[in-house]
Amino acid sequence: MKKPETIYTCVKCDAQTSKWSGRCLECGAWGGLREADGTQNDAETERISAGKPGQIKSFQTETPTRAEMKSTRLKALDDVLGGGLVDGSVTLLAGEPGIGKSTILAQTAIALAASGLKVVYVTGEESPAQIHRRLERLATPLPSSLFFLDETDAGTVAATISKEQPGLTIVDSIQTLRTAEVGGEPGNLNQVKASAALVTEAAKYSHAPVILVGQVTKDNEVAGPRVLEHLVDTVLYLEGDRQHRYRMLRALKHRFGPTDEVALLAMTERGLEIVEDPSSELLRDRAMGIAGSAVSCLIEGHRPLLIEIQALASPAGYGTPIRRATGVDTSRLGMLLAVLARRAGVNALDKDVYANAAGGIDARDPSVDLALAAAIAGAVKNVALDPRTAIFGEIGLGGELRPVSMPEIRLKELARMGFKTVVMPKRQSGKPPAGLDIKEASTLDEALRLLGL
Ligand code: TYD
Ligand code: MG
Repeated sequence: MKKPETIYTCVKCDAQTSKWSGRCLECGAWGGLREADGTQNDAETERISAGKPGQIKSFQTETPTRAEMKSTRLKALDDVLGGGLVDGSVTLLAGEPGIGKSTILAQTAIALAASGLKVVYVTGEESPAQIHRRLERLATPLPSSLFFLDETDAGTVAATISKEQPGLTIVDSIQTLRTAEVGGEPGNLNQVKASAALVTEAAKYSHAPVILVGQVTKDNEVAGPRVLEHLVDTVLYLEGDRQHRYRMLRALKHRFGPTDEVALLAMTERGLEIVEDPSSELLRDRAMGIAGSAVSCLIEGHRPLLIEIQALASPAGYGTPIRRATGVDTSRLGMLLAVLARRAGVNALDKDVYANAAGGIDARDPSVDLALAAAIAGAVKNVALDPRTAIFGEIGLGGELRPVSMPEIRLKELARMGFKTVVMPKRQSGKPPAGLDIKEASTLDEALRLLGL
């Protein structure tokens, strides 16, 4: 039998190598490589036994204590956080410029201060005068316990949090803080990380919750919120299209609660307001009886959301036909146009095609494929779908329909919203809700026929 190869392990970093050398090639430590012969050498034993063992507990008999949450006095934030903010926690609110981060935080700042809590708004992104103007648009008179700190030095912000121990501190934004501890301009990677670390330490130490605003830019994400995800307890994203009315607030990471809660918000003259019944709001203004419109159902978090998908096709001028998509995937649109032409005899390849998800909602989800394809087919053939018919399903390159997740939840929502017929892929399981006529198809061609297209 061949003797197994000797493996050496570095006692510093655990890197393994089959060649002994005086220095670990991974961590650079000298004299740390030991032969891993199955038994522990002295150095290893010493390292493992250096700490005191902890107490393991059974989940069956022990109920771990949950962190106590305090309401933000804003339903959308509370919903997404699973109750509110935890003392000493650091939450990152990320989103593109202009999406409404400062607005929603101004709203919670006002509401919390009105309840008597000391709230400190650290200004850096905008001047205190600009923040003041926004606050006054949202409430007058402003509560007396709403303070601002015009400061960009992270150490000063941290020290202020430790001294004042506010009920909430808002840092707008983390990219504007800097610290002399590291080099570089405010907003660069090291500055953002070091500044956030200082503020986080102060928050933990003072049991004071902090919300950091993180600007996300489409092109340059380098010094953006991603670098902070590991440092903070919670990451919230405010998403949407700033030209449109709706915003989606969701948790991407959350140490204290669920990450599958989302809230739909609408930008109004009174700030961001929660949409209580998203499906009915999103379908309210839909174009009935017009060719090129189809209703589908998304799952956001774990909730269903009905959405209108629209398409418009017109003869292309010279050159490459235009493909424009908002809220739906442009490459998916191209793929569906090819599948429609090859597998279902609907040719829009020589046409300019525009497609969108109404309301600026992000519907880049394969479960809306069939609705998008039906909207395009309707637009090309100038046939309007029955307004009480809804459609969902993913389409494969062969024109085959693929099942989507949580069909029961989607069907229930469609029934609740008064839909009568649903065209969808062959169902995996489950009984459809009463009053809903389910038409199952296994190909795009078959689905279009069921829809009268
Ligand atoms: P803002 O909160 O400044 O965005 P961010 O901090 O994410 O960069 O919001 C910007 C938009 O919101 C701006 O175009 C104005 C609009 N807005 C309203 O429509 N209603 C309001 O009550 C407020 C305060 C802002
Ligand atoms: Mg802002």
